[in-house]
Amino acid sequence: MENNFDVIVIGGGPGGYVCAIRASQLGLKTACVESRGSLGGTCLNVGCIPSKSLLNLSENFHKAKKEFNQQGIEVNDVKLNIEKMMSNKNKSIQVLTKGVEFLFKKNKVTYLKGKGVIFSKNDVVVYNNNEKKNYKAKHIVVATGSSVASLPGITINEKNIISSTGAISLSKVPKKMVVIGGGYIGLEMGSVWSRLGTEVTVIEYLDHITPGMDKEISKEFQKILIKQGINFKLNSKVTSVINKTNSAQVEFIDNKTNKKETLEADKVLVAVGRKPYTEDLNLSKVGIKKDEKGRIIVNEKFQTTVKNIYAIGDVIKGPMLAHKAEEEGIAVAENLSGQAGHVNYNVIPGVIYTSPEVAFVGKTEEQLKSEKVNYKIGKFPFLANSRAKVNNETEGFVKILADSKTDKVLGVHIIGPHCGDMIAEMALAMEFGASAEDIARTCHAHPTHTEAIKEAALAVDKRPIHF
Ligand code: NAI
Repeated sequence: MENNFDVIVIGGGPGGYVCAIRASQLGLKTACVESRGSLGGTCLNVGCIPSKSLLNLSENFHKAKKEFNQQGIEVNDVKLNIEKMMSNKNKSIQVLTKGVEFLFKKNKVTYLKGKGVIFSKNDVVVYNNNEKKNYKAKHIVVATGSSVASLPGITINEKNIISSTGAISLSKVPKKMVVIGGGYIGLEMGSVWSRLGTEVTVIEYLDHITPGMDKEISKEFQKILIKQGINFKLNSKVTSVINKTNSAQVEFIDNKTNKKETLEADKVLVAVGRKPYTEDLNLSKVGIKKDEKGRIIVNEKFQTTVKNIYAIGDVIKGPMLAHKAEEEGIAVAENLSGQAGHVNYNVIPGVIYTSPEVAFVGKTEEQLKSEKVNYKIGKFPFLANSRAKVNNETEGFVKILADSKTDKVLGVHIIGPHCGDMIAEMALAMEFGASAEDIARTCHAHPTHTEAIKEAALAVDKRPIHF
């Protein structure tokens, strides 16, 4: 009996561990299998959390070096101790992964250490070193996440040619870094190393950075990053990376002119996306189907082609974001216990944790145009926000898109200070079906950055006060 569970979740990342905790809270006998040796998945161990730690620490360093003296805080001889910075980051990871283990104990989730393989629709085998144990489950949830994608002909060796995993653990500040891919990882990690003194060049295939983002925000974002010293080669297709003794050489073609170019750097960061991680799970043998992109096919209840096996997070369609996986994990657990679990995909916020941050929720202007929806725009710059002004953080703006007829908020896009936190207010507003007028009539504390949101909402009706 002790090896029989109502639910076995395979994968202890934000999707899997949250699903396991919620399932156990709802009275289901639950186990979670994880092979990494620590819980929290890519996000806690080698992704969101370590990168945010380094973003914060490198920003502090950069401010102390470049801004403090002008603000009357006299600091001399600001020095970087990269070893200490990395150990600071590692400590934060340890505390948080141990925290998830504690939550498992508190919520009576059985933590099965090892690699989970689906043997049949009710059988999971867990391999740990030379040990093999069999478990039975009424329901199985696949939450195995994603792994780094590369390009044909490029071998990531985590020495000179690195992935995000290598980029969060460098022991020395590189002189030069080439980043392939102007997406989330490329720009966050590019910012970290640029602030610590590396000359960073981002090579992006498209004619703009951050594909899928509202174009106006994306343009402003790139302008700000250029001002910060990051170089860009847009419209450029990387064709190969040659590994050398202490460096690597990137070869790329200008998409417009077909001209070949090369760039050499001590580190080349490959940040061209991630792919679903479903290797060795035995999926096809048990009848679980995948789409052409290798994602597990699920229905609206997250059931795979085998009805009692579910899949959530990066292994299925949708944005590869920790919070999206969490919502799906909760929905599955609630469905399994007879509730009506549901994820509202129209209101999944996205944040890039650079400085300033970029945050968005809902539709972009480009999407509304292509869907032929009539919309109104309200914009407000942080330059006119008193709190941003006194804090010397005046770059960026808030942009609200609302339906022309109903005034319902359809999308919010912000580039500016602390907007990664501010976007929650907009997600909540959209979840409740708010109109721009609702936001404009909500009292916002003064002086806060959030007043820029209220003003942008007022601007939808052309009546901002402070601009
Ligand atoms: P991404 O999909 O955000 O960006 C990849 C970029 O590489 C794209 O702009 C693409 O056009 C470009 N590219 C592709 N092939 C290329 C080539 N041959 N030459 C030049 N450029 C090329 O992927 P990224 O940044 O690797 O992130 C992976 C995932 O991790 C994303 O899905 C993201 O959602 C997630 N993530 C989220 C974060 C957050 O929420 N703040 C932080 C980091 C990652």
